Amino acid sequence: MNPLAQPDIRIDSYLGEGQERSLAQDAREGLSRPFKELPPKHFYDARGAELFDQICDLPEYYPTRTERAILHDTARELAQLTGAVELVELGSGTAAKTRVLLDAMSELGQLVRYVPVDVTEGMVRDCAQELTSEYPGLQVHGVVGDFERHLSQVPAPRGPRLVVFLGGTIGNFPPADRATFLREISNLLGPGDHLLMGTDLVKDPAVLEAAYDDSQGVTAEFNRNLLHVLNRELDADFDPEDFEHVARFDRHNEWIEMRLRSRRHHTVTVRALELPVHFREGEEMRTEISAKFTRQRVSDDLAGAGLSLVRWLTDPDEQFALTLSTPAG
Ligand code: SAH
Ligand code: TRP
Repeated sequence: MNPLAQPDIRIDSYLGEGQERSLAQDAREGLSRPFKELPPKHFYDARGAELFDQICDLPEYYPTRTERAILHDTARELAQLTGAVELVELGSGTAAKTRVLLDAMSELGQLVRYVPVDVTEGMVRDCAQELTSEYPGLQVHGVVGDFERHLSQVPAPRGPRLVVFLGGTIGNFPPADRATFLREISNLLGPGDHLLMGTDLVKDPAVLEAAYDDSQGVTAEFNRNLLHVLNRELDADFDPEDFEHVARFDRHNEWIEMRLRSRRHHTVTVRALELPVHFREGEEMRTEISAKFTRQRVSDDLAGAGLSLVRWLTDPDEQFALTLSTPAG
């Protein structure tokens, strides 16, 4: 018998070739436009994941601790209300906050399975190991893949299901893609299943901008890590020091926009694509948006995906919200 085989863990990976193609495609399209842009999912290689973890602990980055506090206050009620026996988590990362929910489900004796979905393979594997030892009897079925392409690979439910999508990651989708994605999430839910989604709320722009441009420069390094990913995966010759981190609140769209601004006029070559990319001095390339929500916007978006709001859970300062919803009857 294979001594490494663990009957309570199964990991399916849908990356490899496909993901490299997707980075190449995104880079070719995004770097050839007049307003250059790269999608945020390529931030998260092993180094990016580590930097994101550091961001979550920064004093300026309030979303993580606020969301965790709301979870603490409501986990038991959520477990009871949903009766969920399995938790499917999109963009699970290290599943740090997820443990609060798993604890509540486990205390109520209803925890059967955890299904983490993330592009970063190492994180899915590590968290499967950790969680199966922390929660004896728990089954973990990890899906390593792109949640925009591989949601159909989520295994059939084992009973009442709770899908969780935390960290405000839904805000990282451009609005048109957000609607499509919510509809796909909705398709993972049967009658009586639930979605728990975290969204950051509209607030003072100074607070928002500090959260995405911290004084220690961790977020700046996270943003520039994208250039290291392009250098390694596509044999590009970006010098990350040629780019400055920019985070600005766009009041009209109510989102934070993250950009990289070229410090000088220069040309970068993406050798794997045989693509020269010219940058003017001061030219900005968009690397991410992070939309900020109101209660109205969240419930409208959910309704658009056939979901109706069950609970709106927020902190006393209304900085961040968790929304529980279920397929509309
Ligand atoms: N849920 C955690 C992590 C949020 S960071 C939290 O709330 O703190 C966003 C996570 O989503 C990262 O772990 C990243 O690897 C993952 N991710 C980003 N884009 C993805 C995509 N397209 N498909 C799958 N996972 C993705
Ligand atoms: N989902 C997180 C958010 O929008 C992702 C994030 C936090 C992020 N800080 C960042 C992405 C800095 C890029 C750069 O808050």
